[in-house]
Amino acid sequence: MEINGREISKSIKAKLAEKVATFPEKYGSTPNLVVILVGEDPGSVSYVTGKAKTATEIGIRNTTIRRDENISEEELLALIDELNHDDDVDGILVQLPLPKHIDEDKVIAAISPDKDVDAFHPYNVARLWLKQPCSLPCTPKGIIKLLKSHNVLIEGQEAVVVGRSNIVGLPVAKLLLDNNATVTVAHSRTKNLAEITRRADILVVAIGKERYIKADMIKPGAVVIDVGVNRDSRNGKLCGDVDFEAASKVASHITPVPGGVGPMTITCLMENTIDSFVRKMERK
Ligand code: GUN
Repeated sequence: MEINGREISKSIKAKLAEKVATFPEKYGSTPNLVVILVGEDPGSVSYVTGKAKTATEIGIRNTTIRRDENISEEELLALIDELNHDDDVDGILVQLPLPKHIDEDKVIAAISPDKDVDAFHPYNVARLWLKQPCSLPCTPKGIIKLLKSHNVLIEGQEAVVVGRSNIVGLPVAKLLLDNNATVTVAHSRTKNLAEITRRADILVVAIGKERYIKADMIKPGAVVIDVGVNRDSRNGKLCGDVDFEAASKVASHITPVPGGVGPMTITCLMENTIDSFVRKMERK
């Protein structure tokens, strides 16, 4: 059974739009998201365009600030500082990756944790691992919502996460653990990967390698979440980290690429922006 991320996103977005529509009367304002895009990387341009479009659909004010790839780190940090101090800005997202001459860690740490809608700031990462209230990173949050929307049992199940990035692998492992799964994190150096993935009742793959997970690496009836976004070397189309055609004959549930995890990531970004706005308004 295919897990349709577009459909699930659509229903969440409709609810978010209804909520935002009440804000002008309730708060006299609406949420405001600022996205910073440095350079012209086609993948990044496409992501940023999708985020802006979705924000507008929901009624979230949004601006994309585009800067030349030669912008200095100092200039970028000054821009973030200005947005941190602008009370009308609720969310700041710096699209990654950044050019090599800019220290990404420094940029992420410069964003006010209150406006960190990606939840990449060390403060928010620490709060996630300490199980304290915080914004959750968008892709991991979206994955848990996909599982829950299909009533997938997480508690007590064997979950295997392939990939250990700060953006997906590690935080999704933590969220699965918080939902009482038994979690294994595998990666590119894991020995006998197939042996480990075949144990998984829930298999989350975020390794960034085209069709890396084959059908014979999946336990029959497993739930497979494919976070990969790759170019198919055969036809140039988008494809995931899982060999979808063959894997969908073995799995009980599987996410397609595109149309699985991706739309949920954007939807969770909108939710985080709205939550940031509401927190600001409730502080007043
Ligand atoms: N680049 C790829 N994914 C992401 C994301 O979720 N947030 C940001 N800021 N950049 C990204």
